[in-house]
Amino acid sequence: MSGVVGVVLAGGEASRLGELTRITNKHLLPVGKVPMIYHSLKRLEEAGIGEVCLVTGQNHAGDFIDILGDGRVVGREGRVLIDLNLTYKVQKRAGGIAEALSLTKHFVGDNKVVVILGDNIIGGSIDAYVDAFRKQKSGARLLLKKVKDPWRFGVVEIEKGSISQIVEKPKKPKSNLVQIGVYMYDNGVFGIISKLKPSKRRELEITDVNMHYVKEGTIEFDILTHWWTDAGTLDSLGEANRLAFRDWKLLGF
Ligand code: G1P
Repeated sequence: MSGVVGVVLAGGEASRLGELTRITNKHLLPVGKVPMIYHSLKRLEEAGIGEVCLVTGQNHAGDFIDILGDGRVVGREGRVLIDLNLTYKVQKRAGGIAEALSLTKHFVGDNKVVVILGDNIIGGSIDAYVDAFRKQKSGARLLLKKVKDPWRFGVVEIEKGSISQIVEKPKKPKSNLVQIGVYMYDNGVFGIISKLKPSKRRELEITDVNMHYVKEGTIEFDILTHWWTDAGTLDSLGEANRLAFRDWKLLGF
């Protein structure tokens, strides 16, 4: 029987973090009391997703294996902090979110997939949204959130209760609703990615994948009720830490 598996994307060059990523990968920097990457793994685990593939660049792949092993992570105090089955994939060059996802085609097999960007920090469980996706026959499902700085993200426009447009980092956003870095797809996603053309920044864009589902009329969404932040800039990494320490008890560790 096919089910739902998880993919965590933890590659990229992270040039926006300056000195902090000279020696390590962004996703191994601290957010609250744990390395950033623990957060997205925890969100998948809480949602009942036991099989997860982590995609990262070659430079620091060994550090991820050192810290996460087979996916069962025991903290220094002997408590199990994360408990899932982890598989790894190496992304040779940073070619965009959709390109990184394409590397997991065989891992995903006949299943549906929940993709999380490793630098997205969410203030609680996403299990209700993943459950809704489990019940969804086919297509895609996005999580949306209202933000003050929509131009930094994929901006979503809604018409008559459905997503009508998604624009990647527009100069003049038409709404303050953005897609966060959690994307749920049926098996058709790999066929869609295989037909994508690179964008101006020479990446395979996840927004183009999502727009394919928009045009097909098979995309659903939820508005996330928890707080959410990325942690890919110095400002947002600071904010992620402030929120994580404030609400540590809600984060499941
Ligand atoms: C990516 C996506 C963007 C999305 C964001 C969420 O942007 O391209 O649509 O809103 O993640 O964090 P990136 O942060 O990779 O530039």
